Amino acid sequence: MKNKKYTIVTYGCQMNEHDSEKISWLLEKMGYEWTDNKKESDLIIYNTCLVRENAELRVYGQLGALKNLKRRKPDLVIAVCGCMMQREEARNVILSKYKHVDIIFGTSNIHKLPQLINRYEQTGKTVVDIVEDDRETIEEVEANRKYSFKAFVNIMYGCNNFCTYCIVPYTRGREKSREPEHILKEIQELGEKGYKEITLLGQNVNSYGKTLGYDYSFAKLLREVNKIDGIERIRFMTSHPKDLSDELIKAISELDKVCEQLHLPVQSGSNRVLKAMNRKYTKEDYILLIEKITKAVPNIAISTDIIVGFPGETEEDFNETLDLIKKVKYDSAFTFLYSIREGTVAANMKNQVPNRIKHERFQRLLDTIYPIFYEQNLKYMNKVVEVLVEEVSKNNDNVLTGRTRTGKLVHFEGDKSLIGKLVNVKITTVKSFTLEGYII
Ligand code: SAH
Ligand code: SF4
Ligand code: F3S
Repeated sequence: MKNKKYTIVTYGCQMNEHDSEKISWLLEKMGYEWTDNKKESDLIIYNTCLVRENAELRVYGQLGALKNLKRRKPDLVIAVCGCMMQREEARNVILSKYKHVDIIFGTSNIHKLPQLINRYEQTGKTVVDIVEDDRETIEEVEANRKYSFKAFVNIMYGCNNFCTYCIVPYTRGREKSREPEHILKEIQELGEKGYKEITLLGQNVNSYGKTLGYDYSFAKLLREVNKIDGIERIRFMTSHPKDLSDELIKAISELDKVCEQLHLPVQSGSNRVLKAMNRKYTKEDYILLIEKITKAVPNIAISTDIIVGFPGETEEDFNETLDLIKKVKYDSAFTFLYSIREGTVAANMKNQVPNRIKHERFQRLLDTIYPIFYEQNLKYMNKVVEVLVEEVSKNNDNVLTGRTRTGKLVHFEGDKSLIGKLVNVKITTVKSFTLEGYII
């Protein structure tokens, strides 16, 4: 019998991307084969995100578009998982309006997918299986990783911070650190398999260790990971400014494998807004951190997340964000329009900012920040940088793309046999989002 085919559509953050790698491992163990083509799939899985409204709407749009395919191909199995399914409201929408969805599962029971598929195939009835807060069993699920040279490694699950705009603590549950020995064993195995770069994942990696019940910190974990043979680059995300300790800054500056890159979401440059967001730091604290880290690691690339139009944000507050951006001089940033998430504290705030103003500020934000990215990239002109070659460019077969230790995307000519290798590239062209050069 010919193997069944599956496809996974993944939305959201690296957590979801990595969960999809685990789902893929489970399915291939069951004999499923990957396809990019939905029409030839026997199983289509949507791994969903709920962080902003547009992520949610895209899933509904995609599911709506599948109705016809399912009608023509009744054996097709459609499953929806991920953060949206952790929320009862979203599950009810699927159950009432998208009746062609066959399996619904959550972020804590990925390991049960083979069972759920069997149950659906035997009964033909919609299967809904959600459990709260128990990621431990998923530890045994390996990942069918997208690349053979760089890998995501979860170090903690959930989030306790309850930033007032954010739904993540309500979807991913309470913060929980994985045991360091499990993490180190996983990375050791990756090193033995030839992986060169790892990214340690958590919603707030700086608070790693707090739930372990004994004295252990993220800085300590980094020091242990740095000793692992084969691994040449260590990245991590995301860092919360309130937990970026001096001990951690010291570790980043001392450890040779830890890359000169820090993603430090600021969200806003106004103390009033930061307080309303429950971020627990001020603009001054943040700037002090940036000064400390750039002193300790002078060539570090700093990126951030910024939300425009949080409830009550005034023109003055917004200008403070622009000022902060000019001061910090970010290398890159994810910029978002504030999106109301039902169930969060900010969703009930009375002083919502009108859409027109949000959009207008968003444009001003981009006009301010893009030239800064360009200015930061200009520092790379005529320099030689170490690049981990990642893939062939989508637009040109002779061009490869890869990343510097600082996370900059670089384009250069070369043969695809170099994928997964470290090369030195001399930069000859600089743009706001990419660098170009040639291998030396
Ligand atoms: N744990 C990480 C990332 C969480 S989600 C952190 O704390 O940095 C990634 C980003 O999405 C956040 O940093 C924030 O900028 C943005 N975000 C979260 N909720 C949002 C909302 N309701 N509207 C707009 N942006 C949001
Ligand atoms: Fe959301 Fe804040 Fe937790 Fe990040 S730290 S996941 S923004 S609640
Ligand atoms: Fe990530 Fe979206 Fe969930 S950002 S944690 S996939 S809500």
